[in-house]
Amino acid sequence: MKIVASFLLTMCMLDVCAQWKLTPAQAARRDSINRITEQDYRQMLGQLHIDSTRRGPSGNPQAPNAANVDEAKATPYTTLPDPLIFKNGKKVTTPALWQKRRAEIVEDFDREVYGRMPTHVPKVRWEVVSTVNETVGGVAAITKKVVGHVDNASYPALSVAIDLTVTTPAESKGPVPLMMEFSFIFPPGFQPPPPPPGTPVVVDWKQQVLEKGWGYAVLIPTSYQADNGAGLTQGIIGLTNQGQPRKPDDWGALRAWAWGASRALDYLETDKAVDAKQVGIEGLSRYGKATIVTMAYDPRFVIAFVGSSGAGGTKILRRVFGEQVENLAGSGEYHWFAGNFIKYAGPLTPNDLPVDAHELVALCAPRPVFISVGSPTVEGQWVDARGMFLTGVHAGPVYTLLGKKDLGTLVFPPQETGLLSGELAFRQHAGGHTTAPNWATFLRYADRYVKKK
Ligand code: GCU
Repeated sequence: MKIVASFLLTMCMLDVCAQWKLTPAQAARRDSINRITEQDYRQMLGQLHIDSTRRGPSGNPQAPNAANVDEAKATPYTTLPDPLIFKNGKKVTTPALWQKRRAEIVEDFDREVYGRMPTHVPKVRWEVVSTVNETVGGVAAITKKVVGHVDNASYPALSVAIDLTVTTPAESKGPVPLMMEFSFIFPPGFQPPPPPPGTPVVVDWKQQVLEKGWGYAVLIPTSYQADNGAGLTQGIIGLTNQGQPRKPDDWGALRAWAWGASRALDYLETDKAVDAKQVGIEGLSRYGKATIVTMAYDPRFVIAFVGSSGAGGTKILRRVFGEQVENLAGSGEYHWFAGNFIKYAGPLTPNDLPVDAHELVALCAPRPVFISVGSPTVEGQWVDARGMFLTGVHAGPVYTLLGKKDLGTLVFPPQETGLLSGELAFRQHAGGHTTAPNWATFLRYADRYVKKK
C-alpha cells in the first residue's frame, strides 16, 4: 500500500495520473500523504526561520509561468564555484591537493544540498529469499530475490527492508560484471502509457546486459525510503531519527537511496555469481539524481549511467532554464534534499550555493560518468540537456588533473552524437524521458572500463 501510494505520487508528477483512475482508498491515502508532507515541510521552514519560499516555474510549456526554454534568456550565471580552488583561495595543483579540496566540496554538499548521512546507520542483514531460473529476452538467467533487513533494535516501531533482485546469466562460468538500476515500481495492473511518438524501439536493457555475459540488479529505492515528505519520519531516515522530523542538515531521500545502493553492493560482495569490483550504477530522472549521488559518495562503483537527471542531478543549478532550485525546494521535492537546501529558494538564491552540480560530477573522478538525455522535442526541456552537458564540461578540469580525459569539447554536440572519448561522456538520444535508447552506446563505452574475467 505504502509503495503503491508513492508510485501514484510519482506518476502524478509525471502527469500520467490523468490516465490512471484512483480508487477512493488510494485517493484518501494520497491526500493523507500530501497533508503530512505539508506539515513536515512547514516544520522544516520553521527550523530554518523561513516563512515562505519563491515558487518555481511550471513544467507545462503552455502555462503562463512556464519554465524558460529560450537559450538566449538562460541568464548566464556570472560565476560557477571552481572545483580546483580551495575556500581560502589557494589553487589545487596536484592530485593530493584535490583529495583535500574534495573533502571541502563533500562537506558543502552534505550540509547544504543532499544532507548528512548519520555516522551510525544500523546494519543490514541480507537474506536470499528465492532463486529462480528464467529466460530474459531469450537468455537463460538466474534471478535471486534478496532482502536487506535493517537492524531496528534502536527503534523497533519502524521496520525497514531493502528490496533487490540480482540476475546473472545461467551459463556464466565465473563472477560477472553487473549493472545496478534504481527502479520505479509498477503496481499490479498498471499499464505504462505508450512511449511518445518518435521514441526508437530498442532491445530491453536487461537482455542487452545478459547478452554481454553481465548481470543486472534491480534496486527498489522506495522499499527503504518513501518518495515523499510524509515518509521522512519513516524508512531509513526515520529509523535513524527514531521517528522524529529531520534537522536541517540531515540526509534527504537521494542520499538515503544512495545508501541503499551501497548496502546492495555490500550484498554483491558476498555473491559468488558477481564480480563486485565491476559494478556500475544506472537510473533515470529522480533516480538519475540518486545515481550520480551514489557514484559521488561510494568509490566502489566503477561506472555511472546517469539518465535525464536534470536539476538536483547533473544539471548546473545556477542555469535559468527548465527546472529550477525553486521547484526542487517546494513541498513536492524538498524531501530529496537536506532541509537546508530550501534556503536557496528564499531568502537565498541559487547563486548563493557554495557548490554546483559540476562539482558533484567531479567527486566521481577519475571514474567514468556517462551523462544521458533525450531529445528536447520528445522529452521536453524541463531536464535541461545543455545544463547537463555543461556539468560535464566544468567537471573536466578535475578529470584532467587526475590524468583522465574530459568531454573533449566545449560545443554542445548534435543529437545522437556521443562524446565518448574520455572518462566524462555525454549523449543525447532521439527518444523521450528514458535511458533505453542510450543503453547500447553506454554498454559499448563501458567495455573500455568494465572487464569480464
Ligand atoms: C519531476 C521533477 C524532476 C524529476 C522527475 C522524475 O519532473 O521535477 O526533478 O527528475 O519528476 O523523477 O521523474
